[in-house]
Amino acid sequence: MTDRRMTDGLLSLIAELESDRSLLLQDRVRRRIEALDRLDAYLLIDELPAPGPRSNDGAVYQRARALCAKLEAANGELYQAIRDQIQRGDGHDLLLKAIDQAGPDGAAVSCVEGDSYDYLDELISGVLHVEKPAAEVGQLDSEMVFYQPTPARHIFDLIRQVALTEKDVLVDLGSGLGHVPILAGICSNAHCIGVELEAAYVHCARQCAQALNLSNVTFVQQDARTANLSAGTVFHLYTPFTGSILRSVLDSLRKQAAHREIWICTFGPCSATVAREPWLKSASTPGADRITVFSSCSWGQRTR
Ligand SMILES: C[S@@+](CC[C@H](N)C(=O)[O-])C[C@H]1O[C@@H](n2cnc3c(N)ncnc32)[C@H](O)[C@@H]1O
Repeated sequence: MTDRRMTDGLLSLIAELESDRSLLLQDRVRRRIEALDRLDAYLLIDELPAPGPRSNDGAVYQRARALCAKLEAANGELYQAIRDQIQRGDGHDLLLKAIDQAGPDGAAVSCVEGDSYDYLDELISGVLHVEKPAAEVGQLDSEMVFYQPTPARHIFDLIRQVALTEKDVLVDLGSGLGHVPILAGICSNAHCIGVELEAAYVHCARQCAQALNLSNVTFVQQDARTANLSAGTVFHLYTPFTGSILRSVLDSLRKQAAHREIWICTFGPCSATVAREPWLKSASTPGADRITVFSSCSWGQRTR
């Protein structure tokens, strides 16, 4: 795109956004996030057009930055209000309301698929303030999968599907920075545990849970193969490992299921492996691009 076409495109986008008065209403967070993405497409270009023959180019970019600051401030206010309420112990309703309202017509519908991230991840990042480790993390063995968070819309799908109660203990095996136990802990009275091998991730996840006053969320620094699984009722696996490690953890889970009913939620390629376990049944067709919930007893007998 030429400099001139870029400036004209940005100008018409600014005009469109500035004329939309509803954009600053508290619940229009999704629209603001999308507007910020559209503005960023112009502002993040490495070489901004120098204020050349058209002397107002610089002013257009300034106006765009001022608009971004306004939209970010509106989002920041909403994120802080949700965060304050979580810290006071009842963030559940406000968080779910923000998520539901974030959809185009009140329904939280995403335009992206599979493991892509969307506006909900931006919203959750603004609320949770999960820090990344300051230093590089250690190398993983070949069958261990590097850190990547479950997209937030899938975490909320998991929370809705399993309907956690105070009797549940959710265990995220390979919990990374802790989004799954933290969000499940905010949205339910269940005890939520993250088991993660990388100490730096565990440290960051603990700090986040502590800053949010989440007494029902804990993190254990351990290899999932040696973790004590006896308290868990619901387990989450976002393909944290493959091959013999996955085999060993599935064998441990099957031993737990010999005494009681457990649920296993999967996301990503491990869903296909878990679906081949004869002792597990899923209510829906397993797929790598969505949460699949498996039960250790037949769905006819299920208690959830
Ligand atoms: C794909 S990420 C999933 C992160 C998190 N469960 C989520 O859904 O947001 C996989 C995580 O598993 C961890 N991991 C890999 N092998 C592990 C093992 N044997 N025991 C515990 N954690 C492991 C990795 O360090 C990484 O953080």
